[in-house]
Amino acid sequence: MKGMPTLRGEMVTLRPIQSDDADGMWEMVTQDPEGTRQTGTTEVFTREQVDVWCAEVADRDGRADWAITHLTDEYLGEIVLNQIDAHSRNANLRLALRPSHRGRGFGGEAIQLVLDHAFAPDGLGLHRVSLDVLSINPRAYALYESLGFAVEGRLREAHLDGDHWCDVIVMAVLEEDWRARDR
Ligand SMILES: CC(C)(COP(=O)(O)OP(=O)(O)OC[C@H]1O[C@@H](n2cnc3c(N)ncnc32)[C@H](O)[C@@H]1OP(=O)(O)O)[C@@H](O)C(=O)NCCC(=O)NCCS
Repeated sequence: MKGMPTLRGEMVTLRPIQSDDADGMWEMVTQDPEGTRQTGTTEVFTREQVDVWCAEVADRDGRADWAITHLTDEYLGEIVLNQIDAHSRNANLRLALRPSHRGRGFGGEAIQLVLDHAFAPDGLGLHRVSLDVLSINPRAYALYESLGFAVEGRLREAHLDGDHWCDVIVMAVLEEDWRARDR
């Protein structure tokens, strides 16, 4: 989506993805087996696809992709609202950080910045933000729950994790939940 603003928090700054994020994104998609597993990513990307993606994604309709940065402009991971439905004012959220930047509160702050923007009338004006989390990912589940995402359903054995099935948990937060939340 063109014209996405940069969002600034106490620790992280979220800015639109740009061409020179390709090195960081390439490292994340090729050298992070645990993250690949936890996000349920099965697609294999080529370097050329990553280069084109970084160069063009900021202009794509129906989605907003931000690089997560801290202190410098370096790409430490990303947070994305995709499947933005302008009629029902819904979107899907996903995020991932590079391994050495996890567990420092960056993910939590990034989600709060994006939800503030997503639900603001002068931001995206959304009504609902949902996400899928795998049952093998207790860290992400705990984080989403702590931020007010409610479990709406459980798709039993919907994802094959190596040799074992795991569940896909559907969670969402509504604009009124977000506004009513204690900070
Ligand atoms: C999930 C992810 C985005 C979270 O970001 P993060 O910066 O690491 O998370 P934060 O540090 O903000 O918070 C993590 C919370 O989970 C808690 N946590 C960590 N490991 C946990 C575990 N195994 N079980 C339960 N809670 C756990 C932490 O204590 C922290 O809670 P707190 O803030 O109350 O202390 C990041 O870890 C990541 O990129 N993981 C790999 C990709 C991924 O799983 N993406 C999400 C797919 S749904």
